[in-house]
Amino acid sequence: MREDPILLAVYSSSFECPTKTLAAFFTQFFGGPREYEPRRWSLSLREAHQRFSIGERERVAWLRAMERALADVRIEESTRGALHWFFAQSSAFLINQPAGAPDAPIPSLEPPNEGPQLREIRQRWQELRALEEMIAALRLGRVGAVLESLQSPLIEACFSRDRAAFLSFLALLQSSGQPALLDYARLELLRSPGLVAQTYGAGRTLLHDVAGQGSPGAVELLIQLGADPNARDDLERTPCIMSAMRCMHPLAPMLYAPSFTEELISMPRKSSGVAARCTWLRAAETCRWRRRC
Ligand code: HEM
Repeated sequence: MREDPILLAVYSSSFECPTKTLAAFFTQFFGGPREYEPRRWSLSLREAHQRFSIGERERVAWLRAMERALADVRIEESTRGALHWFFAQSSAFLINQPAGAPDAPIPSLEPPNEGPQLREIRQRWQELRALEEMIAALRLGRVGAVLESLQSPLIEACFSRDRAAFLSFLALLQSSGQPALLDYARLELLRSPGLVAQTYGAGRTLLHDVAGQGSPGAVELLIQLGADPNARDDLERTPCIMSAMRCMHPLAPMLYAPSFTEELISMPRKSSGVAARCTWLRAAETCRWRRRC
């Protein structure tokens, strides 16, 4: 990757962190340890790539790099073919340039033999696509499509394989502002109140995500169901800090003033005022995340 000027222009100066994250994604995607989950910023792979300009040129360069990586390992030809198929499909899906153009056609490249590896990868890719489509429908406010997807076997398989994805999606629903979707999330939580205590993605709880999104009704419900407002994620952030980072100060009183006050006291004195404090928190957050590799 390092030697490719096209990829150099897309990736930041250091390839180390992206390479580790990509490896963690593949490890998890292909059924290994759940190493990507704590690193996952966005539930949607497509949304995670929106901030980069990816056209056919970048896709081809990325594919070339993956081909070179595959050439370095000794694997069965059927596995190589299945991976090749997956890389071609997934990279076409992430093309976002030219902006506003219809989705790039997904190549219909098929390896000669459809072995068990390809069947498994194809199934996982279909689940991931179904999740991506459901998130896209959510962003577009297509409530009916989201509710329909939630009943689909692909989404059910996806969520039973990846419980953290289900929790992240519940959090997304809470920020939708759509009554039918809020009801769905509410019912799921009332049916399984234990969800509020579960942690996912770097030790976050639902309350962390919902507080960060600034959804007062959802925060209230989670607290009623026993969510811990002082829970700390792997980066020592409480839900209150998450809300402060997004400048959602109206939520702070709901999230336990003591922890909030404690965090504010530990900030440099000269940073007074809400805006300065938020800036400070964001900077601290960035530094911590930079250290995650
Ligand atoms: C089409 C060509 C592609 C390009 C140009 C590209 C580029 C990038 C870039 C620039 C990043 C951010 C690196 C950073 O953190 O600085 C990234 C992250 C990532 N890419 Fe890609 N990518 C491509 C295809 C893919 C494909 C096909 C997959 C998976 C099947 C993938 C999975 C990931 C993952 C998991 C991350 C980390 C996202 C996160 O932070 O959670 N990428 N990619």
